[in-house]
Amino acid sequence: MEALTIALTKGRLQNDAVNVFKQAGLPCDCLTQASGRKLVLEDPGGDIRYVLAKAPDVVTYVEHGAADLGVVGLDTLMEHGGQVYEILDLGIGRCRFVVAGFPDTSLEPGPKQKRIATKYPAVAGRYFKEKGLNVNIIRIEGSVELAPLLGLSDAILDIAETGGTLRDNGLVVLEGVAELSARLIVNIASMKLKQKEIRRLVERLWGGERP
Ligand code: PRP
Repeated sequence: MEALTIALTKGRLQNDAVNVFKQAGLPCDCLTQASGRKLVLEDPGGDIRYVLAKAPDVVTYVEHGAADLGVVGLDTLMEHGGQVYEILDLGIGRCRFVVAGFPDTSLEPGPKQKRIATKYPAVAGRYFKEKGLNVNIIRIEGSVELAPLLGLSDAILDIAETGGTLRDNGLVVLEGVAELSARLIVNIASMKLKQKEIRRLVERLWGGERP
């Protein structure tokens, strides 16, 4: 049996992904016992090697075949694309893309072009284009909720999970854009070359209980 390299998104998604793998009976003691900042974690049985990466990099590693599989949010796939197969909705990391702003914010076209702050300029660009609204998209790296508070933008397009960050900052959802969750992605060549191993893994994940 050939070893599989699986890239996991570091951070919020990491624990949920480890739980899903554990429930599926996949070897992941190397992950649960991991401490410190080690980025490559090998199952002692030699069947699986996990690597931890930032979300957009998970797609890049899988796209180039440096990893056979990856666990990454649909938000990242929608923003960055990538020539990979998306084969399973893991049902974790559930959240949604929303447009948010102050309760009295109107996104109706007016004399002034609306400014939208976002970590997802490609998604925002497509969304507002489809709506036929010509907006000015301002790229922000994080804590996007700050932008309307400081008057940098009229609204934001961002992820809401619990809604707590919006609420705590006096913002509300103006429009729902898309439902999101984490996906299992596969390198195109690995899908052929390691078909048996990937199928076995997917069957286990498919059979495992998901939240
Ligand atoms: C995300 C997102 C929101 C927040 C939403 O940011 O951009 O800010 O989580 O979650 P909530 O609805 O549960 O409050 P993240 O915590 O990933 O950090 P960042 O803004 O620094 O990227």
